[in-house]
Amino acid sequence: MRWPFRLPPQCLLIRTKPKDLGNRAFLPRTPSRNLQSISSGAEFEARLLERLIEPCEDRAAANNELRWLKEHAQKTAPGDVETQHALLNRFVDERSTGKPLQYILGTEYFGDLELECRPGVLIPRQETAASISYLVHLLSLAPELPRRLRVLDLCTGSGCIPLLFQHELAKARPDIQLRLLGVDISLEALQLAQDNRSRLLETARLQLPNVDEEQKLSHPTGPKYDTPRRSLDILNTTEFIQADVLAEDYLTHDPAKPESDVPSLEAALRLQSTIRLGERRRRSTFYEPRPKIWKVIICNPPYISPNEFLHTTSRSVRDFEPKLALVPPVNSQGPHTDQGDTFYPRLLKIADSHQAIVVLFEVADMAQALRVAQMAKSYQIVQDESAPANKYWRDWLRSAHRWDHIEIWRDQPDQASDNGTPEVIDGFDVVGRGNGRSVVCWKYAARRWFGNGQPISTQIAELKAQAT
Ligand SMILES: C[S@@+](CC[C@H](N)C(=O)[O-])C[C@H]1O[C@@H](n2cnc3c(N)ncnc32)[C@H](O)[C@@H]1O
Repeated sequence: MRWPFRLPPQCLLIRTKPKDLGNRAFLPRTPSRNLQSISSGAEFEARLLERLIEPCEDRAAANNELRWLKEHAQKTAPGDVETQHALLNRFVDERSTGKPLQYILGTEYFGDLELECRPGVLIPRQETAASISYLVHLLSLAPELPRRLRVLDLCTGSGCIPLLFQHELAKARPDIQLRLLGVDISLEALQLAQDNRSRLLETARLQLPNVDEEQKLSHPTGPKYDTPRRSLDILNTTEFIQADVLAEDYLTHDPAKPESDVPSLEAALRLQSTIRLGERRRRSTFYEPRPKIWKVIICNPPYISPNEFLHTTSRSVRDFEPKLALVPPVNSQGPHTDQGDTFYPRLLKIADSHQAIVVLFEVADMAQALRVAQMAKSYQIVQDESAPANKYWRDWLRSAHRWDHIEIWRDQPDQASDNGTPEVIDGFDVVGRGNGRSVVCWKYAARRWFGNGQPISTQIAELKAQAT
């Protein structure tokens, strides 16, 4: 498998290798404007370009980056050529230390959303966006998708997943009322997620057609929703809360952990959690009085083992992106590769206790995908073993707890497989092109969403045929 598919996306910065991504994944930044004013000469530019070649790895990528950095300098100091020169020099200095371009520009594309990025929070990756878009696309084709859908995104980081989910579902299915909740342990991440939400809220308000200012600020109501109105509605109720997804007890009181006062997920939900952002405490509204069901649960957890972190991640990732977002606490004595798997058993348990009907968990590669798919499969066996003797209850429990259909999605799940035929590895359907990127599990109950009563795997296959 050739680069970039060898490494997990958290090891890579997509924009530095646009030519490897194909047109679909590569999203150019805003169109170039007249850049003459910024550069007084070819020599100055040539020097900057030379300094960018090492972090960018080739001349074409360095040229692209130089163009974006110039645009950024122009935007930062409009009309002031001298300051633009100084800024550009500084940006190139920063970039040549390996600092990711996204942290310098302050934004990154995720699907077609431009989101803010800040040091301290993981830069969203295009492979993650591709999985989310494909999931939303499949769901949007389901004729009986519940009119109220609750989506929980664990380890939300910049909030990119719930924000893209709402953006795409509101476009495809403005009839669906979405409730989105993003959870993270890091206050820096939560602050950025809130800021990204506010940014999109502002855009959605500006797009509202023919509505006066007062109406734009209020919660929109009405029998018929258009996409901007639905987006506004969803964004208004999208929340981000702090919780430790790994903690099972009520509150984690481990003095050795700096984040020891972070509540567990259950505690955060039960307390109608408050998020502390600086001095401000904000009270959640929509999940009172603690509805338990999250029909869709998504998570892109830290999944790189300490050994892989040292040996497979780029210097730029190691030096500049938060290790908390990349490497989970180790809780296995097994092979070093398995030490990236810490989150998955816990995620399966959360999905079970919140009665999720579909889950999508991102993984590093095909090997981890197969381990996680196997965990999901054996989760049902644990439940089956503990089932009561009564056949009726046993059957009911089985269908309620087990994953009816488990599949593995590659980096580009919407593409046909490399040889164009359906692929099965170790008994799991494998979808798309690229490396293993996510494990997607469906419960029996999802059959109702598709409305034709066939087994879930047949229904999913039909959906995928429609989607391509
Ligand atoms: C791989 S990043 C994913 C960020 C974002 N969802 C994305 O796709 O770009 C993992 C996130 O998990 C958060 N995290 C790490 N440990 C956590 C824990 N125990 N509980 C909740 N969040 C955690 C990190 O702060 C980080 O934002």
